[in-house]
Amino acid sequence: MQSYQITGPTGLDALTLSDVKEPQVGPSDVLVEMKAWSLNYRDLAMPHGGYIGNDKVKTNPPLVPLSDGAGEVVAVGDAVTRFKVGDRVAGIFFQRWLGGELTGEQIGSALGGAIDGVLADRVVFHEEGCVSIPNGFSYEQAATLPCAAVTAWQALTLGNLKAGQTVLLLGTGGVSIFALQFAKTFGARVIITSSSDEKLERAKQLGADETINYKQLPEWQERVLELTGGVGVDNVIEVGGAGTLERSFTSARVSGRVSLIGVLTGQPDNNPSPMMALFKRLTLQGIYVGSRDMFEAMNLAIEQNRIEPIIDRTFGFEEARAAYEYLQSGAHFGKITITRTDVA
Ligand SMILES: NC(=O)c1ccc[n+]([C@@H]2O[C@H](COP(=O)([O-])OP(=O)(O)OC[C@H]3O[C@@H](n4cnc5c(N)ncnc54)[C@H](OP(=O)(O)O)[C@@H]3O)[C@@H](O)[C@H]2O)c1
Repeated sequence: MQSYQITGPTGLDALTLSDVKEPQVGPSDVLVEMKAWSLNYRDLAMPHGGYIGNDKVKTNPPLVPLSDGAGEVVAVGDAVTRFKVGDRVAGIFFQRWLGGELTGEQIGSALGGAIDGVLADRVVFHEEGCVSIPNGFSYEQAATLPCAAVTAWQALTLGNLKAGQTVLLLGTGGVSIFALQFAKTFGARVIITSSSDEKLERAKQLGADETINYKQLPEWQERVLELTGGVGVDNVIEVGGAGTLERSFTSARVSGRVSLIGVLTGQPDNNPSPMMALFKRLTLQGIYVGSRDMFEAMNLAIEQNRIEPIIDRTFGFEEARAAYEYLQSGAHFGKITITRTDVA
């Protein structure tokens, strides 16, 4: 069978497609024939050695990339009870975070980072490390869920988002667009930023209430305050990191929440000032994807609300490098997927 591998911290040139041995199925394992995958911003960091400051990245290459994929169970170990041959499943981001609070040990079970990921023909998971995909979902749709969607779900649900509250979303990538779709099903008001008016128009069609072009309006936090009558938003889905954090603090209401998720503006040395967070009594909640319980709860909400992932562009299995390059370009809106051309 074939598997992609990152052979060292040398960028996309380190991404190679290799013939590898079939994985062995243990008593509690399921063997999954992978049908579709999706890319996350994190996947761009892995060929460069992972995120700065994250010590939980597999240190001995090669690393099989990607956390997100879905497929069909084609074999099960003798002790398996959760799945049977023919089931349609997706892997969970942290293979060992099933529920409750995240532990340090569980961080070491992140697919496509701490441990080998899923960009391969067939992958063995412990049966606890998979969920059933939502009813009616294609494998491609299901492959968008494990990282970006669960992250958006955790950020909104930990904040106990209520109808009528306001959420601020930064940019129109995978996490933000899932957050837009979920926030609208909660009955929230959504303000979203983007570098592109065309993308903002698409966000409006998905239900965004207010849009701001952050390139045309670099002090976009002032517009957020205007749009909220000077009060600020209830929850900022903060995917920008150091370069946007102080603006996000300004955008949040007093006693509001900033969900710390991403580093899209890079990881510069100068740290943003925490003073405003303190004086506004903000809750700063670090978000790290989510547990299996969160994934399964999200899938129920997806089914009930008939939410369909927004897939910008799909690449073939042999075109993985082009998919990474497209992600790097930032031209996408929502998710980028990779599929086998021979599957439904
Ligand atoms: N903590 C976690 O568990 C977790 C989970 C998932 C993702 N993340 C992180 O969250 C971030 C987003 O991930 P993703 O997979 O959704 O990324 P993505 O799909 O690659 O999103 C990229 C988009 O972000 C927007 N963007 C870039 N710079 C921006 C800026 N300065 N201000 C506002 N928006 C900006 C752009 O949107 P426009 O083109 O519309 O301008 C760009 O297209 C990444 O840093 C990722 O590492 C963290």
